Amino acid sequence: MKRLALYATGILMISTPVLAEDIDPEAYIKYREHLMENAKHHTQGIGDILKGKLHLPGNIIHHARALDEIAQMIPSAFPEGSDFGETSAKDNVWSDADGFAAAAKKSREATAALVKAAESGDTQQVGQAMAAVGDSCKGCHQEYRKKK
Ligand code: HEC
Repeated sequence: MKRLALYATGILMISTPVLAEDIDPEAYIKYREHLMENAKHHTQGIGDILKGKLHLPGNIIHHARALDEIAQMIPSAFPEGSDFGETSAKDNVWSDADGFAAAAKKSREATAALVKAAESGDTQQVGQAMAAVGDSCKGCHQEYRKKK
């Protein structure tokens, strides 16, 4: 009997890592929507400052850094198995994982360049870097996000 109990414990120990890999797709879907919405709001902040609607040039660097931080978290928000539920992500996020990773990397490079431009304090450079960031968002959405 004791032997059996030990055996059962062994099975539990073996199966625990498998259970740990079980994920809650809805939580990831919500999480990445929030990340993306945050990215949108930071780009809008920079856009409104550049347009002169807000006299807050000193905040550009903070928005730029926030965008750069978000860009680094994007890949982690799309784990395998998080494609079931109310998601606008297309299946190719997972079937073309290399392409998706490349699109995420491109976006990160654009946000890193934006931080450099913001550090220079040159608003023309910031404008150009923002256009590249915007293209990188759109580039990924065109390939990997369902149209509404
Ligand atoms: C590597 C690909 C990729 C990059 C880069 C990317 N996105 Fe997304 N984005 C997606 C996908 C995929 C979805 C759909 C997510 C879902 O519904 O599960 C999405 C969804 C969104 C949404 C809708 C969120 C919601 O509430 O449903 C917004 C807004 C958004 N992205 C903004 C941005 C902005 C702004 C950038 C650039 C700064 C950006 N994204 C960069 C892939 C990307």
